[in-house]
Amino acid sequence: MLQNAARRALEYGRGFLSQGVLVDYIPELAKADPGRLGLCVFTNDGQKAVCGDVDRRFTIQSISKVISLATALQCEGFDKVFSKVMMEPSGDAFNSILKLDLASNRPYNPMINAGAIEVVSMLTPLFSFEQMLEYARVLCLDGDIVLDEAVYESETLTGDRNRAIAYLLRSKGVLEGDAMKTIDLYFRLCAMSVNARSLAGLGLVIANGGVDPDSGRRLLDERVVRVVKTMMLTCGMYDGSGEFAVRVGIPAKSGVGGGIMACVENRMGIGTYGPALDDRGNSIGGRKALEFLSRELHLHIFDSQSE
Ligand code: DON
Repeated sequence: MLQNAARRALEYGRGFLSQGVLVDYIPELAKADPGRLGLCVFTNDGQKAVCGDVDRRFTIQSISKVISLATALQCEGFDKVFSKVMMEPSGDAFNSILKLDLASNRPYNPMINAGAIEVVSMLTPLFSFEQMLEYARVLCLDGDIVLDEAVYESETLTGDRNRAIAYLLRSKGVLEGDAMKTIDLYFRLCAMSVNARSLAGLGLVIANGGVDPDSGRRLLDERVVRVVKTMMLTCGMYDGSGEFAVRVGIPAKSGVGGGIMACVENRMGIGTYGPALDDRGNSIGGRKALEFLSRELHLHIFDSQSE
């Protein structure tokens, strides 16, 4: 039943791939094959559904913002984190600098670049990249995550907009510490190589309140996961978050590497991979596959009827 629904969701998503485009502002990402699509579902009770390109590695990109936020909330606490970043949808593109200078000193939310860079600035004095990588492996239930050196170098060469954001935050006194050390950690976190299975693993842990259902091990506090899921629901798909919430209704986070990580409360984690992106920078095939799956299995947060 689950495998069959996943297979049909993948087929549905495939039908939209030709409408998507690869990103090219990180040149290495433009080498991906836009015809790829993969979908992986892990349920709390141990079922697994996999179809398409679920083993292919790609960079986590903005989905790392979830790991950074969770780590900062875990280590620094809610009040400190949200004294530096707000919790409102921005309605602008993920890399926008506009409102940051016009309307406020604090970035709108931790899911856009400005907010994530601010969050990473809190982690920079506390953790090395290797420590964060190890933690990402634990949270994604995937011990094979490594740094994709080529993508890291590529973004380091071309990431002037993010450097501009970091310096702007520093000029406003919001970002403390060395702006370039923060950006280096941020680029490395974005360049961690995952696959659809790792994203389903992360989604499962988050869906299950921070506990890995297989081992019973608590990996994140429940209060942290609650905040993370809310930010994913309201801001995880950037300026496409409203429509995604209506059509799909599952807390999710996308990345320009083509991944989407989604979590269905107390039920399942879902990972998708499809590097062809829509005009908001979200995987078009992944988004459509999730829309199908949500309809088919009644996964919308406000569906009363369960599967
Ligand atoms: O900072 C950037 O622009 C990229 N490393 C990550 C952006 C991203 O994934 C936005 N996602 N849809």
